[in-house]
Amino acid sequence: MDQIRIRGGNPLHGTIQIGGAKNAALPLMAACLLSDEPLVLSNLPHLADIATMTNLLSELGVNVAMNGSAPGGHAGRTFKLDAAKTTDTIAPYDLVRKMRASVLVLGPLLARQGRARVSLPGGCAIGTRPVDLHLKALEQLGAEIELAEGYIDARAEAGLTGGHIVFPTVTVGGTENILMAATLARGDTVIGNAAREPEIGDLAKCLCAMGAEIDGIGSDTLRVRGVERLHGAGHAVLPDRIETGTYAVAAAITGGEVLLKGARTDLIEAVIDVLGQVGVRFDDGPDGLRVSRTNGGLTGVDLMTEPYPGFPTDMQAQFMALMTVANGASMITETIFENRFMHVPELHRMGADINVQGRSAIVRGNQKLSGAPVMATDLRASVSLVLAGLAAQGETLVNRVYHLDRGYERLEEKLSACGADIERVRS
Ligand code: EPZ
Repeated sequence: MDQIRIRGGNPLHGTIQIGGAKNAALPLMAACLLSDEPLVLSNLPHLADIATMTNLLSELGVNVAMNGSAPGGHAGRTFKLDAAKTTDTIAPYDLVRKMRASVLVLGPLLARQGRARVSLPGGCAIGTRPVDLHLKALEQLGAEIELAEGYIDARAEAGLTGGHIVFPTVTVGGTENILMAATLARGDTVIGNAAREPEIGDLAKCLCAMGAEIDGIGSDTLRVRGVERLHGAGHAVLPDRIETGTYAVAAAITGGEVLLKGARTDLIEAVIDVLGQVGVRFDDGPDGLRVSRTNGGLTGVDLMTEPYPGFPTDMQAQFMALMTVANGASMITETIFENRFMHVPELHRMGADINVQGRSAIVRGNQKLSGAPVMATDLRASVSLVLAGLAAQGETLVNRVYHLDRGYERLEEKLSACGADIERVRS
């Protein structure tokens, strides 16, 4: 398994290109199943999860043509996804267990094919992550769902019928699955307490381009009028707000200054607000978003993760790494997942002073971090260890970097181009 070796202490200076959002690309790719005409997606990032979704769609009979790439390698690829000849409706365990987002094929398959057999995703490092809300909502649209042998067997032979759904908990994937299913249901669907993450707005925009009728985009109530069929379309994936926030922390934690090209500040207002209180400076200009430290150094700030537009849970681990070197203390409360502090024991190994009490962690800052061999456990925990390594004295070796490759394209290249002493050690 590859490792990433970092020798810390170099302030970052340079430019980083922000790629397309992983968490928009995955549902957008699943949306191709809703039409018998091709869906062309551009600005796709080159990530392991995209490859996994490509494999899953290919197994379902989708023809995936990858072509095009922006200058500089894989970034900004274009995929042509043609589901005219969908031959199967089974999402097997060996693919779903690798990537929970595979469950996003459930709604589209049901809506257009009238049936789907999708493996239950099982838990992951950050929590049990059930899909009960997806299933209950699909049943409200008329699906018959059985759970057997670790699989979801879903049927809607006569098609789906619109309904009024109110999610008891905000669920990004649940909202996406139902939104896609509702576009081809008979009649109207209302989705109450819908997630408002920008990736859902991006999906809705693409579905409308395919002929879907959706109102309330960006709000917590989506109204969908079902149509007979959806036609092909072209859509560019929106920039990755979590990648943007991650590299902003990299600039701040190393005391450098980076220019994030392609970043959209309207997607990360809560992150900018909180990091601004910490002492991170953001200057948005025509050539990109410039991020640096203000002169006053970094101050510990309390944080609570919340559904959008609150501070994203996917930025919690990165924020915690920053707090370990800030002046003063910070209380970080994780409200979305029950076990998203897996990075804490690893940060302890680097000298961080963090005390976890249930869903909150108290970080006592201005520690001098020291490099150490550490273990990646999940995507965002992994990148928080890289960020800590950039600031630590000495050498950090991050193991199991396949977690990183799921969500960060060419991370070590982008960081070393800004002066980080970082390399991938292939083994
Ligand atoms: C999406 O996961 C993202 N993944 C996650 O990003 C992100 O952390 C999460 O949304 C929250 O923003 C993708 O978009 C591919 P949820 P998802 O359904 O849809 C509970 C990353 O690092 N819940 O909004 O799985 C669930 O257990 C990944 O890029 C149920 O109880 O998240 C959790 O506590 C990690 N029943 C909460 O809701 C359900 O049926 C939010 O989960 C569904 C969810």
